[in-house]
Amino acid sequence: MISVILPTYNEAENIKVIVPAISKVFEQEGLAGEVIIVDDNSPDGTAEVAEGMMDRYPLRVHVRTEDRGLSKAVIKGFELAEGEICVVMDADMSHPVEKLPDMVRPITEEKCDMTVGSRYIPGGGCETWPLPRRIISKGAGFLARGVTPLTDPTSGFMALRKGIIHGADLDPTGWKIVLEVSVKTGARIREVPIVFKDRMEGESKLGFKAQIDYIRHLWSLYCYKYPGLAQFVRFCLVGISGVFADTLVLVAFVSLMSLDPRIAAIFAFAGAVSWNYIFDRLWTFEFGRHTRIPHSYLAFVAICLIGLGIRIGIMHALIEYAEMGRSPWYVVASLIGILAATVFNFIGSKYIAFAAFLKKG
Ligand code: GDD
Ligand code: MN
Repeated sequence: MISVILPTYNEAENIKVIVPAISKVFEQEGLAGEVIIVDDNSPDGTAEVAEGMMDRYPLRVHVRTEDRGLSKAVIKGFELAEGEICVVMDADMSHPVEKLPDMVRPITEEKCDMTVGSRYIPGGGCETWPLPRRIISKGAGFLARGVTPLTDPTSGFMALRKGIIHGADLDPTGWKIVLEVSVKTGARIREVPIVFKDRMEGESKLGFKAQIDYIRHLWSLYCYKYPGLAQFVRFCLVGISGVFADTLVLVAFVSLMSLDPRIAAIFAFAGAVSWNYIFDRLWTFEFGRHTRIPHSYLAFVAICLIGLGIRIGIMHALIEYAEMGRSPWYVVASLIGILAATVFNFIGSKYIAFAAFLKKG
């Protein structure tokens, strides 16, 4: 059995068209299917219209009265679905109903666990989309490339074997439930070309805020997929702030104590390392604040000194053997050195300085 889940908000006019269209496809293809409308208490009476159609079509209607949200509605639909295959599609006729068999077949034939409609593979496309919307859509897909192989992760049209979402820790805050499912279930996915049509009636509910939410959702998926990533970004931010601390100490020692800048740089380094230690201890690393002082501090300083050695060593090698001594190449050599040292410092801090000296108890 197939459960087609339609999340709705103010789609009273559209469901009069899409529900009959879906049930016609069920009949033509000889598919046992049901339609589940999950409505967020739409003021335009979507639920009443839907309930009035229940005697003629294989339709169930669920009305949610609090906590409106597209992904939440879809997750509710999964709970209610009786089919072993669930399809999620927009209720506004943007997704082609006639593609339902192509979406479902690869799953029933066990070729994959999930199919996703794509506008960006041969045979797919969008009708009458202005250039800015195309660019946003393509850009959104591009940003997701690090977490999913999908060419069109925001198409919103998917079918899946229900078993794959059991036990998956789905976060209902994002709009992009397709992306969420594809990243968190490890499903074998196939793409099906679709032509995206403009909505029939009413207007889109996905505004500018949805785009900001998309970026936040993506970030949470990147962190999910690469568990150390958020930590590494925090470490780099602390490192960048450390450069400012370094410069501040340098200028202070030179101008207040008329020290030679090369001598002052030693104090600047010590100041920056201590600065970094404080923020990595309190912010970057989860267990940082539970480590013993001075042990973790001394380990951190030692790691930074080795890191400095690595930076200079790599610069030396690049200047000596790759002829990067001349301007502007020595800057590149230095940046490569900094990158290598940062990775070294991160690993050393994570696994030694802020891990090996935990306080007792
Ligand atoms: N239950 C419920 N609650 N349904 C909602 C809500 C909500 O808060 N917000 C939107 N929906 C329903 C709509 O009624 C529609 O059936 C579907 O979700 C898509 O919403 P639209 O408002 O039509 O979104 P869109 O056309 O701007 O965006 C669609 O196309 C994008 C691709 O460009 C969606 O499919 C997006 O996921 C997709 O990225
Ligand atoms: Mn739409």
